[in-house]
Amino acid sequence: MSRPVGVLFVCLGNICRSPTAEGVFRAVVAREGLADRVRIDSCGTGDWHVGNPPDERARQAAAGRGIDIGHQRARQFRASDLEAFDYILTMDRQNLADIRDIWHQQGGTEPQLFLDVLPEHPTDEVPDPYYGGDAGFDTVLDLIEEASEALLVDIRKNLS
Ligand code: 4NP
Repeated sequence: MSRPVGVLFVCLGNICRSPTAEGVFRAVVAREGLADRVRIDSCGTGDWHVGNPPDERARQAAAGRGIDIGHQRARQFRASDLEAFDYILTMDRQNLADIRDIWHQQGGTEPQLFLDVLPEHPTDEVPDPYYGGDAGFDTVLDLIEEASEALLVDIRKNLS
């Protein structure tokens, strides 16, 4: 069997959006029986929360949909991720710009916006919920759940 497809989700702090994406996509992949074919991780462009678990509000919102993300610990993006992953999917355009700067210097996997898997969708960013209320975390989950199903379709083409 070929090596697993590597998927890395990237946001700013790695405590709200990208850990949610990691947890949701992990559940989607497990549901499809593909857990050993897809390697999933997440990280942040910033280092403020390195080593911390996801934000309590993100944990609660994910738990409300049956997904446990409490075991995750934040880490910062590193340049070697550009070689280690086949998909590097950022939550917003600032994350994309930050990673693209590094990609321009050293190459590897070209980063993309996660929501580009939903070309018909009115927005191409997963909004940062950190400074908002609890509702923002449900919006994040809605977007991530929809995009995860589309990503699965795309990755299946790579696996076959
Ligand atoms: P995330 O949210 O990028 O979705 O993890 C944030 C978490 C922390 C901060 C900003 C956004 N912060 O400024 O500490």
